[in-house]
Amino acid sequence: MYQDDQDIQYKVQLSTWKKIISIIFKSKRHLILLIIFSASIAILDGAFPLFTRYAVDKFFIAGEYETWPLFALGMFGLAVGFGLFVWGFIHQAGIIEAEVSYELRRQAFKNLQKLSYSYFDKTPQGWIMARMTSDARRLSLIISWGLVDFVWAALSMLIILIVLYVTFFKLALIVTIIVPIMLIIAYFFRKLILKQHRIARKHNSQLTAQYSEGFLGAKTTKSLSIEDSNYDEFRLTANKLKRASIKAVISSALFSSIILVLAYLAVTLTFVQGSIYVLEVIITVGTLQMFISYTVNFFEPVMAISRILSDFQNAQASAERIVGLIETKPEIVDTEDVEKTYGTLFVDHKENWEDLKGDVTFKDVTFYYKDNEIILKNFNLEVKAGMSVALVGHTGSGKTTLVNLLSRFYEPKEGSILIDGKDYRERSIHWLHSRLGYVLQSPHLFSTTVMENIRYGRLDATDEEVIYAAKMVGVDNFVQNLEKGYETFVGEGGNLLSVGQKQLISFARAVLANPRILILDEATSSIDSESEAIIQHATDQLLSDRTSFIVAHRLSTIVNADLIVMLEMGEIIEMGNHETLLSKRGAYFELYRNQFFKEKTKELEDTLV
Ligand SMILES: Nc1ncnc2c1ncn2[C@@H]1O[C@H](COP(=O)(O)OP(=O)(O)OP(=O)(O)O)[C@@H](O)[C@H]1O
Ligand SMILES: [Mg+2]
Repeated sequence: MYQDDQDIQYKVQLSTWKKIISIIFKSKRHLILLIIFSASIAILDGAFPLFTRYAVDKFFIAGEYETWPLFALGMFGLAVGFGLFVWGFIHQAGIIEAEVSYELRRQAFKNLQKLSYSYFDKTPQGWIMARMTSDARRLSLIISWGLVDFVWAALSMLIILIVLYVTFFKLALIVTIIVPIMLIIAYFFRKLILKQHRIARKHNSQLTAQYSEGFLGAKTTKSLSIEDSNYDEFRLTANKLKRASIKAVISSALFSSIILVLAYLAVTLTFVQGSIYVLEVIITVGTLQMFISYTVNFFEPVMAISRILSDFQNAQASAERIVGLIETKPEIVDTEDVEKTYGTLFVDHKENWEDLKGDVTFKDVTFYYKDNEIILKNFNLEVKAGMSVALVGHTGSGKTTLVNLLSRFYEPKEGSILIDGKDYRERSIHWLHSRLGYVLQSPHLFSTTVMENIRYGRLDATDEEVIYAAKMVGVDNFVQNLEKGYETFVGEGGNLLSVGQKQLISFARAVLANPRILILDEATSSIDSESEAIIQHATDQLLSDRTSFIVAHRLSTIVNADLIVMLEMGEIIEMGNHETLLSKRGAYFELYRNQFFKEKTKELEDTLV
């Protein structure tokens, strides 16, 4: 299951970071270069005060100028070095950032492709989107720049401490004493700021959720006239976010000032104590000057390290969520034996794939989504290849559940589903899915052209084949009337087309795919009789010559089916063809009468309009 933003882990999750490190190590070459460049900057930083000490003591105090030209050259070299190394680490960190983010997204996307239908039933789309976008971005940003800062800071501190202690350890002690005080303060503030940021982030994700509700549901909102209450709710969350953000900013400001005061306190102490040593001629003016520079320089890396630690702690939640996404196991998987013979989703062994004839048997199938809420109990049904089966029954009777089980989006908890006489778990999921077509009630079109949308049925189909399929289901006519014909763009999710048109396109897609088993979840929305005729014709084309299961709502489909299965609470209450069921004068008879009158009345209304 997915984890909410509220679930904050304070413990370091080693397994998570192991995964992240393995991803960073994929950019090994850039990692090494980044370390070299960052380390070089630290060395140059460390060398600079040594240069000034030399200049002060040699040129200004002693007045010896022979080495002056060489010194100037050295300074120039330093400048060039800085330029080069800064370019180097920005360049490398940028590459690592891009590569880590690419790799996180690639692995997450690849895993998402493997996950079962049930995962997408349970996990909100927005949650997945946020992991793929903002978490991946935040993590790669913190990793790449955190590495630069960390290498630089750790080495800078080390160099400074070494030089100071080697030069004059009594003065070096001042710097060393301030460090633990700073770290304690830093620890306290970082924790506080982190907490405030988390609160802000929580409000932020609520806000994002409200955005998407607001936009995705815009049409519904408008039709319900609930803009006002939506706006109030939004403003409340936005306000909370604002307040939390301001709190975090205030703490940050306070923290920075306290640290700055401490740092300059250390500088002052160094200056006072150092001046005494200079007057006592224990150290030179140049050395004092060097000490002061180092003291000033020392606190930047200390702060950097404390910042990096809190950044990483902050990033841990992102890391866990995205690694979770990468490592979530699909609920429905093939056994190892099956994979050996049939291959995986990414590497098929198509040479071992049997053809699918289309016999389907439900054998003592028991199924539930949640424990103790049995939907199907010992369900049995036998369907011969080529038959069309209409599933009818009230809402919630288990029609969708049944076809989802057949599609292996879910598997029976007990019993089995046989295809061509063999439990479908003995063959691969991909084997089944590449021979099974599922036309959804509200089909999803991709935001591309009509042509490409139909081609999703079979990616290697030629334009002619696409058009042929379109003609078969009678889509051709309406497509010809579109502005750019088959090259017309259908809009996001196909929303530039009507529901009926979308349905027809998805029919063409299914005809092109030519599956052996077809599942059709019929649209419930009523359509005018002209479109009805077109859809009826398309449905006939779609069903011919294959085993089909139709969650049927329209009378004509039901009447034409070879077998009508009436469900009630997951059980078959009546089964047979139209005539036999009618003569029984039972539940089907009632359904037929109701439906018949409804459709006839509608037809009449249509002709009157
Ligand atoms: N993903 C799910 N998780 C939990 N329970 C579910 C899930 N999907 C369906 N159910 C439950 O299973 C039962 C059967 O639902 P199903 O969707 O199969 O009915 P249906 O016959 O297709 O109904 P409709 O005609 O409204 O589409 C219902 O009680 C429903 O609440
Ligand atoms: Mg349903």
